[in-house]
Amino acid sequence: MVTEPPRILVIGSINMDLVVRTPAMPAPGETVLGSDVTTSPGGKGANQAVAAQRLGGMVTMIARVGDDAFGETLKNGLAEEGIDVAYVTVTESTPTGVAFIMVDRQGENSIVVASGANHAVTPDDVYTHEQLFDEHDVLVLQLELPCPTVRAAIDLARRHGLKTLLDPAPAMKQFPDELCCVDVISPNVNEAEILTGKKAVEERDRIDKLVASELIQRGAKNAVLKLGSRGSLVVCADGHMYRVPPYKVEVVDTTAAGDAFTAGLAVSLAQGRGLHESARLANAAGSLACTTLGAQSAMPTAYQVKMLMEDQP
Ligand code: RIB
Repeated sequence: MVTEPPRILVIGSINMDLVVRTPAMPAPGETVLGSDVTTSPGGKGANQAVAAQRLGGMVTMIARVGDDAFGETLKNGLAEEGIDVAYVTVTESTPTGVAFIMVDRQGENSIVVASGANHAVTPDDVYTHEQLFDEHDVLVLQLELPCPTVRAAIDLARRHGLKTLLDPAPAMKQFPDELCCVDVISPNVNEAEILTGKKAVEERDRIDKLVASELIQRGAKNAVLKLGSRGSLVVCADGHMYRVPPYKVEVVDTTAAGDAFTAGLAVSLAQGRGLHESARLANAAGSLACTTLGAQSAMPTAYQVKMLMEDQP
């Protein structure tokens, strides 16, 4: 077991989240009255960076924000968490990424992202900081940056022998196989269905195994499917396949639960635990993120995760 804090490199998005609570998701053409809007830090990359840091990692982020008040607030917030933001570039004449989030009574969310500066993160931003690939244990990626950038990061990580985790969110239909070539891919069920083009009609379990296996066939060493309230499913390249049971919590808002999950997986694997134990810890981190409104504000600490795991062994 590694005792030094694991060094996690996150290359990903930073958004300001504009959140409204709604009694129900509006149907197309419908208007519903919701709560007042709250503004809070988010972005899948930044959420994962915050979670990884709170869970015991030492995190560095490569990202971009715009030259505006949101960008300044978000970058400062990450620095206050202890994250190394020296490689978070302020991009002139570009707005910071913004996410418009609706959260319904069940805590389910719908999100539209205006990418802004996230789309200005280029492969060159990755190549310029190649030395970071020698200084970190694990690379964490998502799909809120341009694909060529994510691909460049995967290529460099493989060259430098860095463990790679890809949270393929938001999912895309034409998902290139090159992006699958990571140590762990961790979609939720909806994302896995979009990535593989397979849809569950019935027999949920069968389709879970099918989509995860397809991701392995396309190049991933391991696939860890986030099943929400059903826990997670681990499928390994050597054919091993098992379900990891969920934790029971009071759900307030599921936003960024997947980000906490991926961060938990990254930190735990970097600390030297196996996939099974890491998926358990990731389940606990994801569950805890559902108990509080917001994204970064809801990311759990290592202590909270430990308590939940002891409480529900
Ligand atoms: O995963 C949740 C995140 O998705 C939100 O914080 C929002 O910014 C979007 O990126």
